[in-house]
Formats: sequence, C-alpha cells, structure tokens
Amino acid sequence: MPVKRVAVIGAGVSGLSAIKCCLEEGLEPTCFEGSNDIGGLWRYKEKSEVGRPAIYRSLTCNTSKEMTAFSDYPFPDDYPNYMHNSKMMEYLQMYVKHFELLKHICFLSKVCSVRKRSDFSSTGQWDVVVDTDGKQESYIFDGIMVCSGHYTYPNLPLKDFPGIRKFKRPYFHTWEYKNPEKFSGKRIVVIGIGNSGADVACELSHVAKQVFLSTRRGAWIWNRVWDNGNPMDTVLFTRFYNNISNWLTTSVINNWAENKLNYKFNHTNFGVQPQHRFLSHQPTFGDDMPNCIISGRLLVKPNVMEFTENTAIFEDGTEEEIDVVIFATGYTFDFSFLEDDFKNIGSQNSTYKFVFPPFLEKPTLAFIGILQPVGATIPTSELQSRWAVRIFKGLNKLPSKKYMIADIKRTRGKLDKQFLPSPRDVNRVPYVQYMDEIASEIGVKPNVFCLFLRDPKLALEVFFGPCTAYQYRLQGPGKWAGARTAILTQRERIIKPIKTRVLYHNQPPSSKLSWLLGTCLSLALFIFVFLMNR
Ligand SMILES: Cc1cc2nc3c(=O)[nH]c(=O)nc-3n(C[C@H](O)[C@H](O)[C@H](O)COP(=O)(O)OP(=O)(O)OC[C@H]3O[C@@H](n4cnc5c(N)ncnc54)[C@H](O)[C@@H]3O)c2cc1C
Ligand SMILES: *[C@@H]1O[C@H](CO)[C@@H](O)[C@H](O)[C@H]1NC(C)=O
Ligand SMILES: *[C@@H]1O[C@H](CO)[C@@H](O)[C@H](O)[C@H]1NC(C)=O
Ligand SMILES: *[C@@H]1O[C@H](CO)[C@@H](O)[C@H](O)[C@H]1NC(C)=O
Ligand SMILES: *[C@@H]1O[C@H](CO)[C@@H](O)[C@H](O)[C@H]1NC(C)=O
Repeated sequence: MPVKRVAVIGAGVSGLSAIKCCLEEGLEPTCFEGSNDIGGLWRYKEKSEVGRPAIYRSLTCNTSKEMTAFSDYPFPDDYPNYMHNSKMMEYLQMYVKHFELLKHICFLSKVCSVRKRSDFSSTGQWDVVVDTDGKQESYIFDGIMVCSGHYTYPNLPLKDFPGIRKFKRPYFHTWEYKNPEKFSGKRIVVIGIGNSGADVACELSHVAKQVFLSTRRGAWIWNRVWDNGNPMDTVLFTRFYNNISNWLTTSVINNWAENKLNYKFNHTNFGVQPQHRFLSHQPTFGDDMPNCIISGRLLVKPNVMEFTENTAIFEDGTEEEIDVVIFATGYTFDFSFLEDDFKNIGSQNSTYKFVFPPFLEKPTLAFIGILQPVGATIPTSELQSRWAVRIFKGLNKLPSKKYMIADIKRTRGKLDKQFLPSPRDVNRVPYVQYMDEIASEIGVKPNVFCLFLRDPKLALEVFFGPCTAYQYRLQGPGKWAGARTAILTQRERIIKPIKTRVLYHNQPPSSKLSWLLGTCLSLALFIFVFLMNR
C-alpha cells in the first residue's frame, strides 16, 4: 500500500522542512505542534516552558547564514552572517509563507502516543494519539516523521555535586536563563564550557561582580570570525578541505587546528586547555571569551568538588563565595511517545544513518534532526527529509536489516574512535561527509568532475567554496533552477551585510597577473585532487 498520509511531529526547523519535502513528493503531511507557533528552539519566550526547547535573549547563531539556509531558499542578502535568534525566526516565517506550509500545521496539538497498527507488517500504518486542549483524538497515518528536537530536556546532574542541596542560594540550568539583568553585582559560577556555558558566562561577566567558569575537561575555543573576517564555516566546510582531510592523518589535522587556536591565545595560559585533541570533542564557540578572561571578569576554574551553604569549593582547593550557580550541563533525549523498542534511539543504539530504525518491518518511520552535525542543522534535516520521503514512497530502498545493523555498528565504531565517549558526542557527524552520504542515496550529490566539463566556473565554486546546501539542488530529484545562481552569488551575500560603509576612493588596483596566477593555481590544485582520487 503506498504511503500517502504522513504525520510530522513538531514544527521546528526540522518539522518545517519535513512538511515541505512531503508536499514536494505529493504526499499529504499533517504536522502536530505542541506549542502555538512554529520555530521550536528558535522561538524566544520570556519564560521557559517545561517540555519545550528554550533559549536566552541574546542567542546568536553559531553557523553562518549561507551554510544555514534551506537548500532552495537563501537568506536575504542583507541579513547578517551570524544572526540573532529573532532574525532566524523571521526567516522561518518567510519560508513558511513562501511554501504555504501553515495550513498543514495543527498547533497546540501534542502527540502523546505513536503505535504500530495490528496489521503493521502488511500496511506499515501507525495509530497516532494527539492531545488537543485536553481532548485526545486518534488518527491513522501511513508514515511518521519524528522532528521533536533534542534540546528540550535539561540535564541537571545534581548528584555529581555534593552539597548542592545545602546550597542556600539559587541554582538552575541554562535552559531557564534569559538575560543578565537581575545578575548585576553578583558572584556567579557557570558549570560547563560548552557553547551555552561559554555564552552565558561571557554575557554575565559584563554585569556581574565576578564570574567563574568551572570546567572538568576544558575545551578548544574557536571563533565565528575566521581568517580575513570570513565566517568560520564558509572557510572550513568545503569539499576541498574535506578531500584533503581524507589524506591527512588525524594527528596532522589536530596539530594544525590546535596551533591555529593557540596562536590566537595560549589555551594553557588561559586555563582552558583540554586533555583531548581538537577533533575528539565538540569545540566551543567563544569569540568574546579571551577578552573576558584577559580582563579578569571571567575566571576559569576546575570542577566544583563541593558546595557549602554559600560557597563553592573547587578541586584545586580554592573556595569562593557564590550567589548563583548556573548549570550548562547539556540536554537529554526523550521519545516517550514512541514504543519501548525506541527507548535506545538517540543514545548509543542508533538509527541507520541517523534516520531509520533498522528493526521495523516497513520503513515508515523516520527521525529527522536527531543528530549533531558539526555544522548547520537546517540543511541536514532537510536532506534527511528528502531521503525519508523517497523511502516512504518506495522510490528508494533501504538495504536489509542485517546490513543496516552492521552499518550502524561500523559507523558507531568509527565515531567512537574519533570522538570522546560523552553524551554530547554520541550523535556527532562530520558535516560535508554526512551530507554527501545522504545525498548519494537520493542521487543529488554533485558530480564535480562532470560539472567541471560543463560549467567550470560553477565547479570551482562548488569544490573550493563553502559547501552550501544549494549544491544538493543542482541535479537529480528536487532539482531547483535557482541553485546555480545561488551558489555563484553566495560570496556577495556574505559581504553585503558587513560592508555598510562603501569606500569611493580608488582601491589599490589588483593586478591582472595575480588574478591569473590565482586562477591557474586553483585549476592545478583541482586537477591534482582528481588525479589523486582516480
Ligand atoms: C543554544 C543552542 C544554539 C544553537 N545554535 C545553532 C545554530 O546556530 N545553528 C544551527 O544550525 N543549529 C543550532 N542549534 C541546534 C538546534 O537544535 C537546531 O538549529 C534546530 O533548532 C533544531 O530544530 P528541530 O526542529 O530539530 O527541533 P526543535 O527546534 O527543538 O523543535 C521541535 C519542535 O517539536 C515540538 N514537539 C516536541 N515534541 C512534540 C510532541 N510530542 N508533539 C507535538 N510537538 C512536539 C516542540 O514544541 C518544538 O516546537 C542550537 C542549539 C542550541 C541548544
Ligand atoms: C574529493 O572530491 C571529489 C569531488 O567532490 C569526490 O568525488 C571525491 O569522492 C572526494 N574524495 C574524497 C576522498 O573525499
Ligand atoms: C603556552 O605558554 C606556555 C607557558 O608560557 C608555553 O610553555 C607553551 O609552549 C605555550 N603554548 C603554545 C602552543 O605556544
Ligand atoms: C543496544 O541495544 C541492545 C539490545 O537492544 C543492548 O543489548 C545493548 O547493550 C545496547 N547498546 C548500547 C551501547 O546501548
Ligand atoms: C552550535 O551550538 C549548538 C548548541 O550548543 C551545538 O549543538 C552545535 O554543535 C554548534 N554548532 C557548531 C557548528 O559547532
């Protein structure tokens, strides 16, 4: 029986792209969203609500707009490269309007259970129970796309912090944190040096009396603003680098990255130096962090050994009076609306390419956006959805259960060797590699070599330029006529929002010769890479 009606659970960025992909393939999506609006994590609320993702007021993207965009809907050219969360919301609203997605979303509708129907092995159908305004309704669907996000349930490891129950002053998770106003003049300890911890600690350090950033492990601190002021991801996430990194050993890459980051500030002297190598754990964005540390507003400390009524005692034996403790200790998964078989999903026991559970008789359930790409989420979720929808329709096939389980083990083994065994790294995947892998399944991975013969200008940008998602709309199913232009104009869209003061006096002339040399050099490199790959 062909899949027709699909339930999309959640209307965050993953859910939105899932709806769009269903429509593209002629399916009938119904999206259930527990809250009263789209956007998921990106919708800022003055007060965090239990069971929903939440962000602080100042949250700014850590992926740049060209890398973050949906593959057929570039950001307006005047949007900043790293935008504030409110801009991201604007973009999502424009996307929804442009592709007319709103009429497919039921708001204030929480999915409470998803169960296989008794005839599942022949029909692949699901019973879905939805709670709308306290009223439960039951529906039958042919396919399910789980887009419920994984930054919803704060992880608060209080048992690892002896004495925290004795501590008389406020403590809470960054999930609850909104803005620095009420913290002025306070002495604060932030626990955890992930992206949220670093952000919140730096922000607070501008108003607090003193901020301590406590970390067990340390972190490599990298920056949104990379060489020549380019957005970091547009420089590093390219096919070219992906190619070279395949020939280099991990330790060469680690050395290169660590030297580069240490060159900016010495991680040992600044107290953040981790034990682990650069590639083995998620680095932390901290554009402002060295400034906060060097001006003494932020002091880096080891793990807290114990709390007393009003102090924290650190592992180095120092004791500090503390007014507020903020835990930046990450999130946990919860898919309780699914059957018990899915309990382990999202933890160690993963899904086939992070999308399909391998043990279903019919592949009619897909997880979208339940992974941590080292890169932007929107394009990843979108590509996963494009693949899932084609599997639902039978246009692509999954391999056998045995193969999938073996593949999961293989991937797991590879990732385990690469990354530290931390919950934050369990679902971490290298960006370009993962995108290409899914794209190959659908047949939309650009063939740079053929492209070079037809359209060398485009091929060079595809290979050396940022690996933006428009590349996956150049050919195959879901081809978009605007993809070529979007790729060739991406650098203009990067520069436009920064260059707001135009210089009229004559720029020093860039010589024709150096341009020629540059082009020849890229061509030579390009050909070299291909010869090596043959
Ligand atoms: C602090 C922070 C900063 C980040 N910055 C970036 C960044 O700069 N760039 C980037 O690419 N990624 C970033 N991310 C990753 C981020 O998770 C993704 O960008 C994106 O928000 C994930 O979207 P999603 O749709 O998968 O999940 P969510 O945004 O969490 O949306 C899930 C939706 O599902 C709904 N839902 C859940 N369960 C149910 C249910 N049972 N029934 C009905 N509805 C349900 C929720 O209400 C919610 O609206 C960041 C994450 C965090 C925590
Ligand atoms: C190098 O790039 C080409 C073109 O994108 C690709 O076909 C090839 O698989 C890549 N090789 C490696 C080792 O990543
Ligand atoms: C950092 O500083 C320490 C001590 O000053 C020094 O020994 C070390 O070599 C420096 N590290 C780098 C990468 O420069
Ligand atoms: C994976 O699941 C199997 C059975 O479902 C279990 O025995 C195994 O311990 C799980 N592995 C991990 C790492 O969670
Ligand atoms: C951006 O921040 C989120 C939240 O901490 C993190 O999960 C993601 O990996 C970060 N992005 C990159 C490219 O590191």
